[in-house]
Parts: sequence; structure tokens; C-alpha cells
Amino acid sequence: MTPEQFLEFARVLPEPLLLVSGKGHLLATNQPLADMLGLRRQELRGKMLIELVTQSADDVVEYLQACSTSRAMVIGSLTFRNNDGQTLICRSQGAVIQPCSHESSALILLRLENRTLASSNFVLLNQKIDELAKEVQRRKQAEEALWKANQDLEIRVEERTTALQETLNELQLTQTQLIQAEKMSGLGQIVAGIAHEINNPVSFIHGNLHHAHKYTHDLLNLVQIYQQVFPNTPLEIQHELEEIDLDFLIQDITKLFQSMKVGTERIQEIVKSLRNFSRLNEAELKQVNIHEGIDSALMILEHRLQARHEYPEIKVIKKYSQLPNVTCYPGQLNQVFMNILANAIDALEALALNSQTTDSQKLINNNPQIQIKTEVINEKWIAVSIADNGLGINEQIYSKVFDPFFTTKPVGKGTGLGLSVSYQIIVEKHGGQLNCFSVPGKGAEFVIKIPVNSV
Ligand SMILES: Nc1ncnc2c1ncn2[C@@H]1O[C@H](COP(=O)(O)OP(=O)(O)OP(=O)(O)O)[C@@H](O)[C@H]1O
Ligand SMILES: [Mg+2]
Repeated sequence: MTPEQFLEFARVLPEPLLLVSGKGHLLATNQPLADMLGLRRQELRGKMLIELVTQSADDVVEYLQACSTSRAMVIGSLTFRNNDGQTLICRSQGAVIQPCSHESSALILLRLENRTLASSNFVLLNQKIDELAKEVQRRKQAEEALWKANQDLEIRVEERTTALQETLNELQLTQTQLIQAEKMSGLGQIVAGIAHEINNPVSFIHGNLHHAHKYTHDLLNLVQIYQQVFPNTPLEIQHELEEIDLDFLIQDITKLFQSMKVGTERIQEIVKSLRNFSRLNEAELKQVNIHEGIDSALMILEHRLQARHEYPEIKVIKKYSQLPNVTCYPGQLNQVFMNILANAIDALEALALNSQTTDSQKLINNNPQIQIKTEVINEKWIAVSIADNGLGINEQIYSKVFDPFFTTKPVGKGTGLGLSVSYQIIVEKHGGQLNCFSVPGKGAEFVIKIPVNSV
């Protein structure tokens, strides 16, 4: 490339360019270079590169030497001084255009890039980046703060929900207890009232029986004496004696009084059981015989254990062990026995009805029974197990039987409170355990474990 060709080519290029000889003579320059240096192009004509830069002549020559001998572009740094005396640090890319020969020195094209400008741009860019980074940081912080606030809010909402749920549970529990307490206290009052009403007349019947027996005995004795003293009684009296069958009467009347005595004793026992049961409202702890509580509940349910229309008799098998007296709230414990026994009877009745309507032999139960077992687990704990061979509890409802208001019974029959209240009484009031075991179709067993000296 001749300097003229170079000029032609360099005119259109925007970056500062200059064509130099291997010794550093300026052969041609373009307008951007003149502009960068603040000179006119004519002023550059005939100048040496060394006059324009601040580097030493040796350094410049060495660089041009490197450019003229390398096939690749040689990168260097040249510091120019412009017309205003400012220094301009330039990155220089030097490429040989025509290598050195015998006839002429090498031609080298230098392409300059003003780093001073670039570096100020760089500073600007850096500032921009800094600002952006700060903005990013600010947004990140804002986002984090937002996230945290959100998180806090979620936690607060969760806490509130939990608190509300707890309150709801407590309210439901209170409602359950109130309904059951109402039901049971009503029953307790009726039972106590009836027991009281029956007790008085039965007491005087029972008390007078002895005298009635004695008086009758005396009267019959008198008749016998009459017969001995006056063996030839008038016809009319003889007729009457035959009519009333005096010998049989004398034999039978003793038996009659005996059975009346047994009867009134039985009524007194029932009254005692009713009273025992109606200890429902007793709030203080007492040491009681657990068997008495179970028996009194059985007594109340006696009418449901006997054979009636479609229901066969339910046998109660008691396997009582020698139990120590237990410190407990007796009325409440009786209520538990009553609830569990009533459920067992319900399950057996349901099975009896079922067996009348189904062909399945499996479901027919000819021997409905409730087995009540008591045992001492160790010196601190006793257990009562109440098992029936009724319907049993299937898997779908097994986990729900202790839930308040859960019932599988028809409307009006079950409130679904019996077991949930029993659970409360055993677990919370007495520090015991209430568990249910069942083989569906075969029956269910409820096991109560309570400490001998609970609470
Ligand atoms: N021995 C049992 N055999 C089969 N299912 C039972 C037995 N005991 C309880 N269940 C089931 O558990 C449910 C809940 O019993 P729970 O005693 O709490 O209420 P309920 O008997 O339905 O009504 P309530 O006792 O309030 O009158 C019953 O509806 C029944 O489905
Ligand atoms: Mg029940």
C-alpha cells in the first residue's frame, strides 16, 4: 500500500490511523488522528512519530522494529501529547503493510485507540455499574424485607388459625361435656328420685313382713289348737277347712313369706344400686369398690339385657378379680361403665336385627354376650375390660369413635357423646387410658386402665 492508497482507505475509517516508516517517519495520517491531537493534517506532514509521543526514541524504534518483523498485529502503548499539552494514552495496534527491503524501509500501519477517553468512559461506566449494583442491592433488600414481612404475616395468620382452632376445640369439648352432663344429671336426678320413692314403702313392707309372718303363724297355731281341743267341728267349719285346704295353706304360707322377703330384699338391692348410680353429681374423690359401680350400671340396664320380642337375652359374664378400692370420682366412673355397656348392648341389638333381615350365616349371633373382666395390673394400676360379641367396629369408623358427636346410630338414638365423654373422664380426670379393640363382625372390646390412686 502506498501512502496515497492508505489515505484513500483511511479517510473512511473513524479511528485515528497513521502510516509510518520503520524508522518512524510519518508517511500519512487521517483526519481522526489530527482531530485527536488538535492539529491540522498539514502540520503533521514530514514529522517523526518520536516528536508526537512522550516515549523515548529507543522505545519507539524498538516497537516499530517489532511491528515490522512480526506477521501478527503487535499491540503497544503510545502516549501522545496534543496541541493543548494534554497527554493521551493510546493503545496501538501495529501491522506491517510492506516489509523492509533493499530498496525501501518497512511500511507500518498504526491504529490507535485513545484509552484516556476510554478510561473516562470506563469511569462513567463503572459509576453506572456501581449505581446499578446499588439499585439491585436496594431492590434485593426491599424484596427480602417484603419476603420477611410476608413470612411474618403467614406465621401470624398460622398462629391465629391455630389459636382459633384451639378455642373452637375447647368450645366443642365444653359443649360436649355440658350436653352429656345435662343428660346424665337429669338421669341421675330421676334415678335418685325413684330410688328414694321406692325405698320408703319397700322399707316398711320389708320391716312388717316379719311381724305379718309371726302373726299369721300365731293365728294358724290357734286354729290347730282349736282343732285339737274341739276335734268334732261343726259341718260348716269342716267344709270351710276343706275349701281352704288348711294343711297346704300352712305349708305354703311360710314359703310365701320367704319369697316375699327375698323379693323385698331384691328391691332394696336395686334401690341401693340406683342410689350408687346416682352418685353422678358427687364431685369429690372417694375410695370405692369398682365392682359396685359396674353392677349398678348393669342394674340400670337390666331391662335391656333380658329377652324381649326380637332380641334374645344378653348374657353377662363377669370375671371379677380381687380389686383394691380405687380413689376416683365414682359417679363419673359409673357413667363410663354405663356408656360402654350401653354401646355393647346397642351393638348386640343391631346384630340381632341384622340377623333377622340377612341371609348371611356369619352375622347370626345365637349367643349374644358381654364379658366384663377386671384385673390388677400392678400395685398402682387396675384394668376393666368390657367386651361384646356384637357387630364390631369397622376400619372406616375405628379412628372416629372417640370423636365428639360421632355416631352411626339413627337420629334420636345416639348423640355420639358417650365415648368422647368417657375418654375425657378416664384420661383427663383420672389420668388413665381408654382403648378400643375390635375385629369387625366379631365384636368390640373397650379396656379402661386407671391408677388405684388417681388424680
Ligand atoms: N361396642 C361397640 N360395638 C360397635 N360399635 C361401637 C361400640 N361402641 C361404640 N361403637 C361405635 O362408636 C360410635 C360412637 O359411640 P358413642 O357412645 O360415642 O356414641 P353413640 O353410642 O352413637 O351415642 P350416645 O352414646 O351419645 O348415645 C357408635 O355410634 C358406634 O358406631
Ligand atoms: Mg354410646
